[in-house]
Amino acid sequence: MPRNIVITGASSGIGLALAKDYAKAGNRLALIGRDPARLNEAASACRAHGAEAVIGAIDVRDRETMQAWLADFDAKHAVDLLIANAGILRGSPDGNSPETAEDSLAVFETNVGGVVNTVHPLLPRMIERRRGQIAIMSSIAGLTPLSWCPSYSASKAAAYAYGMSLRDALEPYNVSVSVICPGFVGTPMTKQLSGYRSQEIGVAEASSRIRSGLDAKEALIAFPAALAAGARLVDLMPGSLRKFFTRPLGVDPRRP
Ligand SMILES: NC(=O)c1ccc[n+]([C@@H]2O[C@H](COP(=O)([O-])OP(=O)(O)OC[C@H]3O[C@@H](n4cnc5c(N)ncnc54)[C@H](OP(=O)(O)O)[C@@H]3O)[C@@H](O)[C@H]2O)c1
Repeated sequence: MPRNIVITGASSGIGLALAKDYAKAGNRLALIGRDPARLNEAASACRAHGAEAVIGAIDVRDRETMQAWLADFDAKHAVDLLIANAGILRGSPDGNSPETAEDSLAVFETNVGGVVNTVHPLLPRMIERRRGQIAIMSSIAGLTPLSWCPSYSASKAAAYAYGMSLRDALEPYNVSVSVICPGFVGTPMTKQLSGYRSQEIGVAEASSRIRSGLDAKEALIAFPAALAAGARLVDLMPGSLRKFFTRPLGVDPRRP
């Protein structure tokens, strides 16, 4: 079982639920996010469960700071499990465009660049130790293109392919990689969405599903199963048919 655990986006939603659920005596948690006040609250909750907890108030887009902070933490406490979870959903319409260029770039920089900035500092260390586990947060939105959130969907497709490719690349070094693809989970992120959120689950259930998948070192931790299977099936359809399944959700990301 992992003892030294790093979680990005640990101050809210799924990351916070994972942090609290991994918090127990003997475990050491490194919690990363931008807001120090929210991170301190998360760390206090983890300590109340008996774990040691430190915070890193860092923007995952800041490559140099991520590199230095993670290398320093890992030198003191060899990381067993790294969860690259931090992410954003943006995309308000801009004239005739479905989303602004600023929103689009922020999504890619956080959801793709941020994952790379999280994983890379520890890759050579885990490979050298021949030990370690990495979890990359994608989404069911990454399994088939969604017209209501083009950049988010694309960023999660990139996270999916990156994680799956890394899994094969790192297998010879005994470093396990899993890709997490949740459907709708009730968090502050989903609260910004209007419309029907099919098969939404709570953070406790999401955390439980993720932790059991990571314990079993599953390649793909996708849930709810029916929604994930549906997304994969829809992705095989011709575009003329696919759009009927990916648009009518009526979910629109609003500017936070
Ligand atoms: N909720 C869902 O339905 C759902 C479904 C599929 C996938 N996901 C994915 O799951 C992950 C967590 O989502 P959530 O629903 O738990 O969202 P959330 O409640 O909004 O939490 C997002 C977390 O990421 C952190 N974060 C955002 N941008 C950051 C940055 N640039 N640098 C560092 N930390 C940053 C936030 O903290 P700060 O704002 O303080 O930095 C916060 O801790 C995301 O990658 C999301 O795409 C969510």
